[in-house]
Amino acid sequence: MLSFLLVAILLHLAGGSPPPEPVVCTDGTSNCTVTNSVGSFPDRVVCRARSVTYPRTEQELVGAVAAAVSAKRKMKVATRYSHSIPKLMCPGGLDGAIISTERLNRTGSAVHEYVVGLRIVTPAPASKGYAVVRELGADHPDLDAAKASGACINSPEDGLNTSCPWDPRVRGSFSQNTDFSIALSKAPAFVAEMQRLRDLSPDTFCAGIDTRFGVLIRYVKASSAYLGKPEDSVDFDIVSYRSRTDGMPRAHADVVDEIEQMALHKYGGLPHWGKNRNFAFDGAIAKYPKADEFLRVKDRYDPDGLFSSEWSDQVLGINGSPNIVKEGCGVEGLCVCSEDSHCAPEQGYFCRPGKVHDEARVCSTSVNP
Ligand SMILES: *[C@@H]1O[C@H](CO)[C@@H](O)[C@H](O)[C@H]1NC(C)=O
Ligand SMILES: *[C@@H]1O[C@H](CO)[C@@H](O)[C@H](O)[C@H]1NC(C)=O
Ligand SMILES: *[C@@H]1O[C@H](CO)[C@@H](O)[C@H](O)[C@H]1NC(C)=O
Repeated sequence: MLSFLLVAILLHLAGGSPPPEPVVCTDGTSNCTVTNSVGSFPDRVVCRARSVTYPRTEQELVGAVAAAVSAKRKMKVATRYSHSIPKLMCPGGLDGAIISTERLNRTGSAVHEYVVGLRIVTPAPASKGYAVVRELGADHPDLDAAKASGACINSPEDGLNTSCPWDPRVRGSFSQNTDFSIALSKAPAFVAEMQRLRDLSPDTFCAGIDTRFGVLIRYVKASSAYLGKPEDSVDFDIVSYRSRTDGMPRAHADVVDEIEQMALHKYGGLPHWGKNRNFAFDGAIAKYPKADEFLRVKDRYDPDGLFSSEWSDQVLGINGSPNIVKEGCGVEGLCVCSEDSHCAPEQGYFCRPGKVHDEARVCSTSVNP
């Protein structure tokens, strides 16, 4: 699950300025906010947290988890550059704790398909000091619940001269990143439908996606990970423009919206956990045959859900839906529109069927085909 941003940084921007610190506090390590690599979550809401800790060693990490557990405080882990786009690193509420891996003295942090073992810190009862380290070797069945993605990038600071285009400090591109996998057997039909959509209007198709990147396509092998790809798949990654103004439609965004709905709803696509907008995760967990096994391990390791947040509960199907239904939600990718007010009717954007995939509902200015 090596993600696109990482690949982009490695291929195009090697040696660029490191991204900004995702965690900012007004009072030392208290009264903090945490954000993602593009400086804005899909719902544009700022995530607050009570405090941040920067453990340097495993022992300090255990101490940080134990402190939160003994205070019954929710916590989330933030990586140095807060790589994921959705709210995975937001503990929720005002009382949550952030544990940053920025100063941990270990090398490498990617936990993906090729991981052969790991040490994981989990909550524990008071009798065990509130936190324990568990060691999972290659044969440990719970390793399949722990596999996920992550990354850590080091580059010299040069006063933002070589910062990434999405670095929030330079107000460069402001984009959203759609990324889903489709089973290999269904991929040719899906590609053919994308081509039909392109051929209907090549200009609007190309205006809808960021053509510096195009549609990135890569193969992903089936994984034993409970939340990994159940079959060999093809992954599609699309970057598209996002307005800096809440609710402002993007010209030809309906192209990406239609591709995304077609992928997720017609071709059983799986959204990348670390990218995408809210609506992509609605019902996604039901597509993972081993989701129940994941939830069982999660319950065993963190019975009080101290590492859970509103967002993780929503995407894991534990409580609520990641969809936010309100005015303009279709424009923002927070819902699939079902009425015009979910788009921007005052600006001529109405909720319309897709051009190729009839069942899609997208915010569009065009007349029905
Ligand atoms: C907490 O931080 C916010 C900004 O994130 C700031 O407006 C507020 O004044 C801070 N509160 C205290 C008590 O420092
Ligand atoms: C990290 O610190 C611990 C404790 O000081 C030490 O045992 C370990 O070797 C260090 N690891 C690395 C990768 O430097
Ligand atoms: C950034 O680029 C400018 C113009 O090329 C240069 O003068 C400046 O020294 C650079 N800053 C750093 C910190 O490298």
